[in-house]
Amino acid sequence: MRAQLTRDFERFGRSLPRDFAGHVRETYRIDLSAHYLGETLPHPIGKGSGQLSLNAKQLEEDAGAGLAFTILKTVIAQDEAGDQSMAAWAIHETKMKVERRRAASGADGWTVTWKGRGWDRSFGDYLALVRAGRDLTRAGRLLVVPSVKYHLPRLGEPFREGEYRFTTQSLAAAWGDGPLLLEKDFSPTLAGDALADDRTQILRWLREVPGQIRAHTAVRLAMKLMNARFDDDFQIEMLQAASAADALVVFNRLFDEKLGLAYGGWDLSDRNLRVLDQLAPGTPGSRPGSELPLTPGDSAGIPELCGSGNIHSGRMIIEYARRGCAAVQLHTFFQLPLSEYPATHGSRTQRALHKLIFDPADGVVAGLLALEDQGALERRDGELRFLDLVPDARRPR
Ligand SMILES: Cc1cc2nc3c(=O)[nH]c(=O)nc-3n(C[C@H](O)[C@H](O)[C@H](O)COP(=O)(O)O)c2cc1C
Repeated sequence: MRAQLTRDFERFGRSLPRDFAGHVRETYRIDLSAHYLGETLPHPIGKGSGQLSLNAKQLEEDAGAGLAFTILKTVIAQDEAGDQSMAAWAIHETKMKVERRRAASGADGWTVTWKGRGWDRSFGDYLALVRAGRDLTRAGRLLVVPSVKYHLPRLGEPFREGEYRFTTQSLAAAWGDGPLLLEKDFSPTLAGDALADDRTQILRWLREVPGQIRAHTAVRLAMKLMNARFDDDFQIEMLQAASAADALVVFNRLFDEKLGLAYGGWDLSDRNLRVLDQLAPGTPGSRPGSELPLTPGDSAGIPELCGSGNIHSGRMIIEYARRGCAAVQLHTFFQLPLSEYPATHGSRTQRALHKLIFDPADGVVAGLLALEDQGALERRDGELRFLDLVPDARRPR
């Protein structure tokens, strides 16, 4: 199988088949199926919301590449009159800089430096993109999910119902039949904002936002949680407070207060994995002697998880999966200079998928075969299954 993997890595670097998950199942008897927001996916790799899901052309290219899902850029909610309480997030900025960032541990990784925030075109344009995504989803080519930033009140203030109603109902109408799948973004710039200075205020948002959205349509809701400017235990409190969501994306980028910028790299994955360790005590990721404020029973109410943050290898996908993430969403790794990908042909999405799945040193296939060798993962009915990495308490049913 190792020799086969080396051959596949070489030839797929020139041309990646769209149904690479089918090939992996046939050739290696590995089932890469994954799960997000109640949907079964052919494999765990999706694209996080951001600058890479702004138009129909990007969606079409990703459907062709065989990506499992894409989250559309976050739109800022508005009411019927077009008023946006979070208007400060709808700013226009095109320049992005992909650069190296050294983590506190000394490890070098990548980050994207960018001053922009949410969707900066009209809401009508966003609805047109939602309809394009709906068509790809219905055709079974790519699961597309819109993302919204809605009004968040200060303690003692009410939620602006008009914003929740108009935005949610407009998205549901654009989507048409079936439940709307939706992500609600709590962004790093929000984490850096004075609004997020107060823990009680953040916990209230997480408890009450799902009800505010569900009041207006049938929705399967994921909340993308921020890395708040508090300690790891508060991240766990946030997970518990968000139990009315159907899924949680863990966790958005860190906020550099000095530079006033969101950033990623190894600091981000170190923090995210350290927090998730506390949900899955006894996993190989758990650090000896780490405090475990949760018993497995306490974590049972926490919704399905989707990992995000510094995912640039199959090994890192496996790290998130072993801590409870049944799928992952990436942004930075789809933006690297072409010289960083071993593939010589194809779109950035194809080149990224090629490395993540087939790299003989640290791709998903190599990682699962290595776990089998170590006796840490067993075949069932002759197959290794990606979802078997996810601890029982967190496995989607
Ligand atoms: C330039 C840029 C723009 C982003 N915009 C959004 C956004 O609008 N909404 C959102 O939920 N996440 C946004 N993100 C966060 C990503 O979706 C992702 O969760 C985060 O960058 C961590 O993953 P990564 O380390 O693979 O980049 C953005 C990230 C970047 C780098």
